[in-house]
Amino acid sequence: MKRLGTDYIDLYQIHWPDVTTPIPETMEAVAQLIKDGKVRYAGVCNYDAAQMQEADKHVMIASNQVPYSMVKRDIEKDVVPYCLEHQKGILAYSPLERGLLTGKLKPGHQFAEGDHRAGLYFFKNENIERTNNFLNEIKPIADAKGISLGQLVLLWTLEQPGITIALAGARNVQQATQNARAVDASVSNEEVQTITNALNKLQLVK
Ligand SMILES: NC(=O)c1ccc[n+]([C@@H]2O[C@H](COP(=O)([O-])OP(=O)(O)OC[C@H]3O[C@@H](n4cnc5c(N)ncnc54)[C@H](OP(=O)(O)O)[C@@H]3O)[C@@H](O)[C@H]2O)c1
Repeated sequence: MKRLGTDYIDLYQIHWPDVTTPIPETMEAVAQLIKDGKVRYAGVCNYDAAQMQEADKHVMIASNQVPYSMVKRDIEKDVVPYCLEHQKGILAYSPLERGLLTGKLKPGHQFAEGDHRAGLYFFKNENIERTNNFLNEIKPIADAKGISLGQLVLLWTLEQPGITIALAGARNVQQATQNARAVDASVSNEEVQTITNALNKLQLVK
């Protein structure tokens, strides 16, 4: 904390559930940090609903940071309902599905050496093509607002039930600025529904 130039941490997130340490033990340590005034709120990352429930018995969990994007909606099954019921925040990470949902990738894209995306099923040629077809379908909504597809995707993400924050990543200043400016625009309920209807037809191959 000295190196961060702070006396306390607002949200202290356990990065992944640690399979070698029981959840109560981890949470008791976090509870102690809160008691000591070093941490204000406890958060978790990549916890499922059952793990959140277990953690909640020992310290009040404020939030869960989990993967969520238009093409990765697993948390809608249990994490979102749990968080809505118990008033937890959700920090959705990789909301652009690592660039796929900006529409800039074309089938045959060659990732640089060491880029982990090359091995992910999202980036199979077939999936890039299917995703781009879907993005083309919703592009008129983005065009009418004068925003990029990525910005529209971020707006849709923020409108989903239970989603508090979209943790968009960026490789450079331009991307960071464009992503942050997404919230200068807005989407209506009707537009969200139109996008969701188109999205529900999109199926990726694993
Ligand atoms: N808790 C966890 O386990 C966990 C795991 C993963 C991530 N995270 C957090 O979530 C954050 C975001 O994750 P992510 O980087 O996977 O998010 P993302 O927003 O899905 O993808 C970011 C990538 O998309 C491309 N991109 C972003 N904005 C763009 C734009 N405006 N135009 C064109 N391309 C754009 C960039 O890659 P290219 O330019 O190379 O295409 C960028 O690196 C991370 O910084 C991290 O803090 C947490």
